[in-house]
Parts: sequence; C-alpha cells; structure tokens
Amino acid sequence: MAMFVRADKGNCAACHVITRSANGEPPVFTDFSYDNLGVPSNTDARFYTASFTDPGLAANTNVNDPLLNGKFRVPTLRNIEKTAPYMHNGVFTDLRTIVEFYNSRDTEPQRWGETEYPDTINRSELGNLKLSDREIDAIVAFMKTLTDQI
Ligand code: HEC
Repeated sequence: MAMFVRADKGNCAACHVITRSANGEPPVFTDFSYDNLGVPSNTDARFYTASFTDPGLAANTNVNDPLLNGKFRVPTLRNIEKTAPYMHNGVFTDLRTIVEFYNSRDTEPQRWGETEYPDTINRSELGNLKLSDREIDAIVAFMKTLTDQI
C-alpha cells in the first residue's frame, strides 16, 4: 500500500484515491477525473481498425476541446484482478505489465510503441517512476487485495 500511495514511488493514489469519500463511503479508487496515459494502440487484429481512434472524453458532443483528446476517466480498482483486459482499448491483459508501463513509459518508448493522442499525455505524474522489481511486485500485490471475498 505504501508503494501505491507514496508520491515518490507509485503515486497511484494521486488519481486512484485511497481515502474515504466526504460522506464516509469506503474508497472507490478514483477521483473521477480524466487523463491521457498514452497507452499503446491495441493492434490486435480482432479489435484494431486503422481508420479508428478513440478520442475518449472529446467524443462527447458537448465537449469541443482538442485538449481533451485521448482522456479517459480514472477507473475504479475494486476487483481489478478479475476484470482484464485493461485500459479503454483492452491493450493490457495483466496487472504487472500495467505497473511496468507506468514505470517505464518514457524510458522505454520502443517497448510500448505508438499511442494515438501524444499531444495531451500526462507527463508529470507517471512514465518514469524508477520503481525496482520488488516495488512493482508490491504494487501488484496490493491491487490483488482489492478483490471481494465471496
Ligand atoms: C494521473 C492519473 C493516474 C495515475 C497517477 C495512475 N493512474 Fe491508473 N489509470 C488512470 C486512468 C485515466 C486510467 C484509464 C486509462 C485508459 O483507459 O486509457 C487508469 C487505468 C488503470 C488501470 C486499468 C483499469 C481498468 O479497469 O482497465 C489500472 C490497473 C491502474 N490504472 C493502476 C494504476 C497504478 C498501479 C498506478 C500507480 C503505479 C496508477 N494506476 C496511477 C489514471 C491514473
């Protein structure tokens, strides 16, 4: 949990909020804001059409602002272990790859490949976290504690 929360480590709670809501409800792991993480295009032939890119928030007809291109709402992380594939385009299928992406998006661009809306990417809170393998494992382990017991 510390690796998830600490601003000098994962910094995940900056968006996937871990504190209770103002009305005392348990955390939902989102601040309900929108962000462009620069996730890679999903080039899996089952999903990919070269002529289509998803502008996210900017697709809402009430929104007329190119600065919002590629922004998607911060999703909850409750039961995240059970809800692959991940991201708006399903490009990631396991949690460790996601943390590796947050960790090295900007230091290993060739590993992650093309993204669709580079101009609006959040470059201040993620992309070069300098996490060790153990710290990445710890964040994955924490996310797996968010699974309901049935
Ligand atoms: C700047 C805000 C922000 C920060 C910081 C952040 N996230 Fe996210 N997270 C998002 C947004 C926005 C999405 C959805 C992106 C998309 O679909 O393109 C997302 C998606 C995810 C998903 C996939 C959820 C799903 O249902 O598909 C996981 C898992 C996740 N984040 C974990 C983390 C972890 C772990 C960290 C810390 C290492 C972190 N996030 C830091 C904003 C953030």
